[in-house]
Amino acid sequence: MVLFSSLTPVFVAVLCAVVVFIHKSFQKKDRDSKTGSKSTAESRPWVDEDLKDDTEINSKDEGDWADSEEDVPHVPYAPERYPADVQLQRSREFHTLMNNRRSVRFISPEPVPREVIDNVIRTAGTSPSGAHTEPWTFVVVADIEMKHRIREIVEEEEEINYRQRMGDKWVSDLRKMRTSWVKEYLDIAPYLILIFKKTYGMHASGKKKTHYYNEISVSIACGILLAALQNVGLVTVTSTPLNCGPPLRLLLRRPANEKLLMLLPVGYPAKDAVVPNLTRKSLDDIMVFV
Ligand SMILES: Cc1cc2nc3c(=O)[nH]c(=O)nc-3n(C[C@H](O)[C@H](O)[C@H](O)COP(=O)(O)O)c2cc1C
Repeated sequence: MVLFSSLTPVFVAVLCAVVVFIHKSFQKKDRDSKTGSKSTAESRPWVDEDLKDDTEINSKDEGDWADSEEDVPHVPYAPERYPADVQLQRSREFHTLMNNRRSVRFISPEPVPREVIDNVIRTAGTSPSGAHTEPWTFVVVADIEMKHRIREIVEEEEEINYRQRMGDKWVSDLRKMRTSWVKEYLDIAPYLILIFKKTYGMHASGKKKTHYYNEISVSIACGILLAALQNVGLVTVTSTPLNCGPPLRLLLRRPANEKLLMLLPVGYPAKDAVVPNLTRKSLDDIMVFV
C-alpha cells in the first residue's frame, strides 16, 4: 500500500506525459495535413479539382464496369502519298498557317455560318482517343441569353481566381497578357464552344465503359479544333476557367460524368484586335534529334 501510494505520483506523471505526447502528435499530424494540402494547392493553383478522373477514383467498383466485347474488321488503308517537293511545300504551308494562329481576346460579333462550325467540330471528332472511346462532347452555344449566363458564371469565379486563388506569382506571370476576370468576348463572340471530357461511357447493358486517357484524348481533339478554326480564318482564345466546370455543367444540363475541359469563344477577330507580341521558341529549342 505504501509502495503503491509512493508510486502514484510517478504513475500519474508518466500518464500525463503519455497523454501530452499523444495530443502533440495528433496536433502535428493535423497541422501537417493542413499545411501539406495548402502548400500543394498553393504551388499548383491551376489544378482544377473538378477535373479529377472518375475512372481512376471509382476503379474499385468493378461490378459497375464492363469489358468491351466488340470485334472490328480490319480494312486496307492507303492515304494519299505526295511527291517529295509537294510534301515539302505542304509542310511549309501548314507551318505558316499554324504559325499565324494567335489567341485572340477581341472577337467580332459578325455572324459565322453554322455549317462551318459543324465542320470544324466534325474535324475535332477525327481525333485519336484511348481505345477509340471518343470521350468528348462539344457544346456549341449561340443563344444570347445562355452566353450571358455563361459570362456571369465565368466572371464571378474568375474574379475570385484572380483576387484569391491564383496567387501573386500567377497573376504577375499573366500581366503581359493583359487579361482580367472581365470577359466581354463571352457575350460578343457568335459562338462559345465548351468542350467536356467524358470520364466514363455507358454500355447498352447499363455498365460503365472505361475511357482510357480521356483527358489526353480530349486535349488532342481540342488541338485539332484549334487547327480547324485557324484553317477557316476564325479565331479563339484557349480558356480553362478554373472552378467554373460544375456550374457550367449544370447550366448546360450535361451529365455528371462530363467535366469541362476548355471554353473557346469563336468568331472573326474584331477590327481593332491586338495580341501580345510574343515570339516562339526556335526548332533548336524544342527539338532533340537523336
Ligand atoms: C491550357 C491553356 C490554358 C489557357 N488558359 C487561358 C485562359 O484561361 N485565359 C486566356 O486569356 N488565355 C489562356 N490561354 C492562352 C495562352 O495565354 C496563350 O496560348 C499563350 O499566351 C500563347 O499565345 P498564342 O496562343 O497567341 O500563341 C491558355 C492556353 C492554354 C494552352
